[in-house]
Amino acid sequence: MKHFTRIADLGVDGVAEVLQQALAWKTCAPGAQLAGKLLGMVFFNPSLRTRASFEAAMLRGGGNAIVLDVGGGVWKLEDRSGAVMDGDRPEHIREAIPVLGRYVDALAVRTFGALQNDDADAADPVMNAFRELAGVPVISMESAREHPCQGLADLLTVRELLGDTRKMPVTLTWAPHIKALPKAVPHSFLLTAAAAGCEVRIAHPPDFELHPAVLAEARGYAANSGGSVTVTSDQQAALKDSRVVYAKAWGPATRSVAVEQAAARIASHKDWLIGNQTMAGASHDALFLHCLPVRRNVEVADEVLDGGRSRVIDEAENRFHVQRVLLHRLLN
Ligand code: CP
Repeated sequence: MKHFTRIADLGVDGVAEVLQQALAWKTCAPGAQLAGKLLGMVFFNPSLRTRASFEAAMLRGGGNAIVLDVGGGVWKLEDRSGAVMDGDRPEHIREAIPVLGRYVDALAVRTFGALQNDDADAADPVMNAFRELAGVPVISMESAREHPCQGLADLLTVRELLGDTRKMPVTLTWAPHIKALPKAVPHSFLLTAAAAGCEVRIAHPPDFELHPAVLAEARGYAANSGGSVTVTSDQQAALKDSRVVYAKAWGPATRSVAVEQAAARIASHKDWLIGNQTMAGASHDALFLHCLPVRRNVEVADEVLDGGRSRVIDEAENRFHVQRVLLHRLLN
């Protein structure tokens, strides 16, 4: 594995190997497995968990990290090919990426999509430019298409709390929000759960489809792993017997709904909020997961987040554990 910016870099067997190693390292971690290694962390967008968990993984492994906030002490970066750079972005990524690659052993990158066109976001142009130009391994801290470390942390949580994930019914349900959000997290839960052999049910209102290329990729993994992928606009039907309720807000499909209409369309589905009544439709022992940050009582009710089924803190902790394994693989 030269880079890790998408689940395709691991495939079905690689996902299983990383989850197995992360489970083992949670109880018996090797000491200075990253000694002498330096990670450059490039943020085009804010973060809490990703930033802290990557830095913690590097420092606890005996390595180090430098953090660069693009546009906040670091030049704003232009990423458009052929741009006439007469605006407020004085440096192009075509220079910035290879320069940064000369200073560090690997680059970690957070770059959200523009949310104007799902096809453009699914093509992941900025992350792919890092892969092409960095000259060192690149790891995703969430891009326009995927958030693969989040997906692995999600499945690590399911695996350690519920056991074997093969044929396990899990529901990824859309949740309301105050605005359109990216599709990277739901894409990654879908891809990783399908690779782990789950029976993945996706529930969302009409016109909130995930990207068709990602759905096709997930169905390919499911064919190899013994899992399945189904899509419905009936939340309660999807939840029936589910062992996991994974909630996430995302914006409507740009091919179906004009970007200007997104907020109004989202607001018309407030009844999709995840409360105890929603959870009652799932298996009696179902876990509740959310990648965080979460808007309480907009996406998910207090009663669920503070209730006995929520495992969102364990899930966030597992970001650290999977990233420690991935950094070890990329840097050694
Ligand atoms: N889940 C997640 O990536 O959190 P942050 O946006 O805070 O990093």
